[in-house]
Amino acid sequence: MPDAGAVTGRRVLEPIRIGRTTSLRNRLYRAPVLEGAGDGEDAAATYAKQFVANAEAGVGLVIQGNSCLYDEGRTSPGMTIVSTRERMLRLRPMVDAVHAAGAAIWIQVGHGGLFAMEGWHEPYASQRRGPLLAASTPPLALRPIFRRAPIHVMTADEVRAMASDYGDVALWAREAGYDGLQLASSNAKLLDQFLSPFWNRRDDEFGGSTSARASVLRLIREAIAERAGADFTVTVKIPVGEKAPPFTAHTTWDEGLELARLAEEFGYDSITPVEVSVFPDTTLSRGGIPSSIWRNTAMQTRFRRAAPRRSERAVLIAGYVLGGATSRFRPVWNRSRFQATKAVVSIPVLAVGGIRDAAEVDGVLEDGQADLVGIGRPFYAEPGLAGRILGGSDEPSLCQYSNLCVPAQMLGMKGACYNPAVVKLSRTRTG
Ligand SMILES: Cc1cc2nc3c(=O)[nH]c(=O)nc-3n(C[C@H](O)[C@H](O)[C@H](O)COP(=O)(O)O)c2cc1C
Repeated sequence: MPDAGAVTGRRVLEPIRIGRTTSLRNRLYRAPVLEGAGDGEDAAATYAKQFVANAEAGVGLVIQGNSCLYDEGRTSPGMTIVSTRERMLRLRPMVDAVHAAGAAIWIQVGHGGLFAMEGWHEPYASQRRGPLLAASTPPLALRPIFRRAPIHVMTADEVRAMASDYGDVALWAREAGYDGLQLASSNAKLLDQFLSPFWNRRDDEFGGSTSARASVLRLIREAIAERAGADFTVTVKIPVGEKAPPFTAHTTWDEGLELARLAEEFGYDSITPVEVSVFPDTTLSRGGIPSSIWRNTAMQTRFRRAAPRRSERAVLIAGYVLGGATSRFRPVWNRSRFQATKAVVSIPVLAVGGIRDAAEVDGVLEDGQADLVGIGRPFYAEPGLAGRILGGSDEPSLCQYSNLCVPAQMLGMKGACYNPAVVKLSRTRTG
């Protein structure tokens, strides 16, 4: 019998395998956007509420937003910590529920490094137990930003130990039923800080050339194969082009493609190429500048608690304003990145960034520009959006890409749509 894709002629409906432990019924995925599920006993239920709805509406794959490798190192209080087997296994009921609804699920795992909240979020900064982990000492001009917490430049042995910790977390993720693991290796997280020549000024085996900076990815891949099994699907986000202050070192376009080639050589099963900035601003999710901080009372209160000093709030806001002003929304803005990556690797390439409707999804897939298409923010307002896209509707997502969801998740609020106009429309639609 011909498969669903062949019957309708749409590639999005064709099944695909990624690595050996991920079989997907179609090529539409929920991109990792933080859910604010936190670290309590109710985390699994909070995730399930969103993910099961997405799965029931038809997505092939859910990529759970970033969870933290260690007890400290989260970039938002709403993140989940997966530093022990017990913590990971608490998520099993949600994983089972997603599978029961027909979708596969990967967990994304990372660490904030220099941008961990212990460095800027008042309650966490004052109770912090360890220093901020870093690939290298930050550039001199930026040191005032990091004055809240001591910085520890990881030794080569500590980098190896971190790789081995990734191995353990992958083993537990497999035990919990996840179909694969994605490294949180973009948006100025610790692994991205290792990949980027802006932050990585090491002179040991983990610094210098592009391949030396990428060697942390090789170690992690090896450790995961050793602990969780060589067949467990492991994937990575790769920065292809990195925004940085003028005249500073940064990952260039060609270096990004070289990183993608290396990731395939190291044994990663798929790649998501993205535009990033050296700062964790809104480059990864182009769109409006999140003015919600000034308008939403709950956000304002949390923001003042997180950054009681006016000067600290000014730095955070400046980051958003600058990031937003230099990264205006453009439909399918990573297209040239995933097309270029497709040309240099033979593993599946995942598209993401500003993809709003069935026509844009089909445009990417029919032309072979990428193998899977991801949608992030629009799922906040419309958990059932996949149904429309898989059905070929030409009605775009309700999301206005205003980025009002960004400061909310940074401050530990639930992953949801905070744009009042969109919320209203979404309620009208769902009755
Ligand atoms: C509130 C928010 C949280 C996000 N969290 C993550 C994350 O945890 N890990 C990650 O790799 N990307 C994260 N992203 C980036 C998204 O995966 C995606 O690349 C981006 O939103 C662009 O896709 P979209 O235009 O479909 O939203 C986040 C984006 C937003 C807006």
